[in-house]
Amino acid sequence: MRSSVSFDDVLLVPKYSEIFSRKEIDLTTRLDHTMQFSLPIISSPMDTVTETDMAKTMFSHGGLGVIHRYNSIKEQSFLVSQCEDAVVAAAIGVSGDYLDRARSLLNNGADILCVDIAHGHHALMRHALTVLRNTFGPDVHIMAGNVATKDGYEALVEWGASSVRVGIGGGSICSTRIQTGHGVPTLQSIIDCATSEFAGDIPIIADGGIKNSGDIVKALAAGADFVMLGSLLAGTTESPGEVHGFAQEKYKVYRGMASKDAQMEWRGHTSSEEGVSSTVPFKGSVSEVVKSLETGIRSGLSYSGASSISQFQSSSTFIQQTSAGSKESNTHILDRSL
Ligand code: XMP
Repeated sequence: MRSSVSFDDVLLVPKYSEIFSRKEIDLTTRLDHTMQFSLPIISSPMDTVTETDMAKTMFSHGGLGVIHRYNSIKEQSFLVSQCEDAVVAAAIGVSGDYLDRARSLLNNGADILCVDIAHGHHALMRHALTVLRNTFGPDVHIMAGNVATKDGYEALVEWGASSVRVGIGGGSICSTRIQTGHGVPTLQSIIDCATSEFAGDIPIIADGGIKNSGDIVKALAAGADFVMLGSLLAGTTESPGEVHGFAQEKYKVYRGMASKDAQMEWRGHTSSEEGVSSTVPFKGSVSEVVKSLETGIRSGLSYSGASSISQFQSSSTFIQQTSAGSKESNTHILDRSL
């Protein structure tokens, strides 16, 4: 049995740097030869993360939003149409109305389709990708996932995916690993997929379990071209849902799409519950959250002396840390007794 590493098991070794200002760092990354982004962050297709406001704001910061699919074709198409000039992605499934949904989303201005299922390395995904390619041709960008392995990543590429979401069971609201015993730490999945001959051509989107800008930096170093974020962007003005509470105690709901609450709402019954519903403190505008993450990413690249993501990926070095190292890596003064 081989071992695996997660974000907190590793650090990046600081290197000689000639970066004098974080502004010198170029975070440009590509989804394909026609779509380039100045920030490698994508918001998750979840009903407490991405609708029109989030997608537009993510795009205004150089990133991308994926409008979730947990509503009617008409409602989702309307959300997409409201994004007007912004580049926007929209999620679909692999069965039922997915083809009609895809057609309507593209007709209403979606630039990217995201085939969004929990276990992407699956015959239903192969069928859906084949049908989508046959119907819409080679030029539509089709993001697909999720997968946890290099085999899964390569299969999705061979079946027609233009980019692949990598990470199973690592999300902050996931209970897949508890419920099913299956999953791979997200960082290990990225490391494995990055060894594929397709890496570099077909973007790897690290998805699930990213807690801070340090984790984003580690995902990029491991070979991700983008990260996808749920909890870090939830609880903001632009995420869907009401603000509850008052004064310093304001919060919003953030829930897994396979949680009982979410399933009851979007399909009226539950099958396997592989997520939880929770709340996160209200954070104000997502713009401030994104700016803070961007500052952290830029700082991260400067510690490796890298002025671009590709330079960073070829020069960064991971080191594994012990549990004592991990403890030292977190602020620990508050743990000390006086
Ligand atoms: P973070 O850690 O950013 O994770 O909050 C967001 C990602 O979690 C995935 N997701 C789920 N995974 N059960 C799961 O196992 C769920 O109910 C669920 N809902 C979302 C998804 O990939 C998302 O981007």
